[in-house]
Amino acid sequence: MATPSPEQVIDSQRQDWNRVAGGWEKWDRFFDEQMAFLNHRLVGDARLRNGLRVLDLGSGTGYPALLAAQTVGAGGSVVGIDLAEHMLTVAERKAKQLGLQNVTFRVGDATTLPFESASFDSVTSRFCLMFLPEIPKAAAEIARVLKPGGWAAVAVWSAPEKNPSIGLSMAAVRQVIDLPPTDPMAPGIFRLAQPGDLAGMLERAGLTDITAQEFLGEWSYGSTDEYYTSLMEIAAPVQNLMATLSEAQRQEVKRLIIQAASQFQRGARITFPIAARMVAGRKPG
Ligand SMILES: C[S@@+](CC[C@H](N)C(=O)[O-])C[C@H]1O[C@@H](n2cnc3c(N)ncnc32)[C@H](O)[C@@H]1O
Repeated sequence: MATPSPEQVIDSQRQDWNRVAGGWEKWDRFFDEQMAFLNHRLVGDARLRNGLRVLDLGSGTGYPALLAAQTVGAGGSVVGIDLAEHMLTVAERKAKQLGLQNVTFRVGDATTLPFESASFDSVTSRFCLMFLPEIPKAAAEIARVLKPGGWAAVAVWSAPEKNPSIGLSMAAVRQVIDLPPTDPMAPGIFRLAQPGDLAGMLERAGLTDITAQEFLGEWSYGSTDEYYTSLMEIAAPVQNLMATLSEAQRQEVKRLIIQAASQFQRGARITFPIAARMVAGRKPG
């Protein structure tokens, strides 16, 4: 199969994430409750404080843009950009509910930022950069739009075996149909899982004082059914794989996913370990 062009990847990303925006809104409370610690870590790594102007890349339904807006306060501001307008509609609704007037969202591509050079004090991004077809370009854009001395803080997923709640669905599909081996360089959930990969890109883009840490946590669901439903409603890449299957194959994949998930039962809940890579760096100056 021919390698898709960067434009084709961007276009399918936009379609994929627009398609699951309703699912993200439905599961918003889950994300808030289970993953807030990642937003706090990003806000800390980006050194956000009162009055700063922040850019958030791939904000989706508002993470970590909304916490960033609360942190920089009325004297600061946050711009969140994302390819998928339907995700941003949810983010805008949440900003309004929170009474935040210092955050705006606009549709855009993280590899071609529509902003002047040195126009932000800080850049944040959670679980977006690995989906880009040209990550070094985005790294260069981050370095370009940061003011001298400004910090960038980025979260991406670490290895699939350390993130079974994501990895086991792919493994289940592979048990049912023959899939070509995953190209580790292709855009996707685990594209930046290798230690040093994103850190190296940010360093080559000109950032210094780089830190990169695997940050361990966990998230938990009320039942295997709740886990399976959320996975199917929010995980655009998993949805894409499931769409290639027959109904009988889908049922078999569901059985395998639920069976694998049940191994993570702890007390009354299904609790998965998660591992993110948190990479931060500063523009010299
Ligand atoms: C897994 S979601 C993460 C959303 C949010 N940051 C969070 O952590 O909940 C990935 C987001 O990245 C966005 N995205 C993918 N490629 C992008 C690109 N080239 N430029 C901007 N956003 C992009 C998608 O539209 C999607 O909303």
